[in-house]
Amino acid sequence: MSDLIGATGGGGRLLAIEGPPGIGKTALLAEAKSLGQQAGLQVLAARGSELERSFSYGVVRQLFEPLLATLPAEERAELLAGAAALAAPLFEPAALAADPGGDSSLATLHGLYWLTANLAARRPLLLVLDDLHWSDLPSLRWLAYLLPRMEGLPVLLLGGLRPEEPGEDATLLAQIVSDPLAAAIRLAPLSVEAATLLLHDRLSAEAEESFCGACHADTAGNPLLLRELVHAIADEGLAPVEASVPRLRELAARAGSRAVSLRLSRLPPAATALA
Ligand SMILES: Nc1ncnc2c1ncn2[C@@H]1O[C@H](COP(=O)(O)OP(=O)(O)OP(=O)(O)O)[C@@H](O)[C@H]1O
Ligand SMILES: [Mg+2]
Repeated sequence: MSDLIGATGGGGRLLAIEGPPGIGKTALLAEAKSLGQQAGLQVLAARGSELERSFSYGVVRQLFEPLLATLPAEERAELLAGAAALAAPLFEPAALAADPGGDSSLATLHGLYWLTANLAARRPLLLVLDDLHWSDLPSLRWLAYLLPRMEGLPVLLLGGLRPEEPGEDATLLAQIVSDPLAAAIRLAPLSVEAATLLLHDRLSAEAEESFCGACHADTAGNPLLLRELVHAIADEGLAPVEASVPRLRELAARAGSRAVSLRLSRLPPAATALA
């Protein structure tokens, strides 16, 4: 990740970080944001939301609005000068009230491309877009429009997504991720060694190997499930020893259902059953 961030000046790239709920996409993106800040990049972030996916340009607005709103008027005008002015209405409260649906015309997409280019000309840019599967459609169109035009721009786009989650336009998202400037990585579950380290750290340095192995197996190495299981073990006061393993199964099932039901309830039943 730090190599990728270090290479941002060399031209535009998109890296999609893929994986199921709780595997660590957001955690990795948070790490990337702080690496980006340390490397002196301008870091902007947004995330798709299931509740806002019908809100046109919701993700794009989240991404740019906080910066535009805090810049001195002169700098804001510079960023929205020239062709970028085509996108300026998106960031005007009056225009938003008049046209809450927004539009995804070529003019707006082109304006947004220029806003991105103008920003990148000031400082190399790291754009972090989490939960892309819940992005509104016009924001996805902006990404698709930007990609073929960003070869020479110092812009690194990082996206987090659950590929299995049905989005506004799964085909468009798949096209974005398979662009020549894009690459995708799929996060793997924690290894048994990593899970053991985590349990030694969070639970007890004395946790027995067989107990740790069972925790890993019962959560399939999913960091979110493992974290919930650690809480359940602590609440229950369960000793981290081999004799506790049968009880662990019940705890894992219950712990899984608490936080995870929140995150998985929107997935189709087959995916929930797998979890
Ligand atoms: N490598 C890791 N080691 C330890 N804990 C981790 C690791 N990766 C993630 N976690 C923890 O696991 C939990 C779930 O991670 P995260 O929220 O990043 O998942 P996600 O892939 O973004 O899931 P979702 O698709 O639901 O958004 C968080 O509490 C996070 O801190
Ligand atoms: Mg996440």
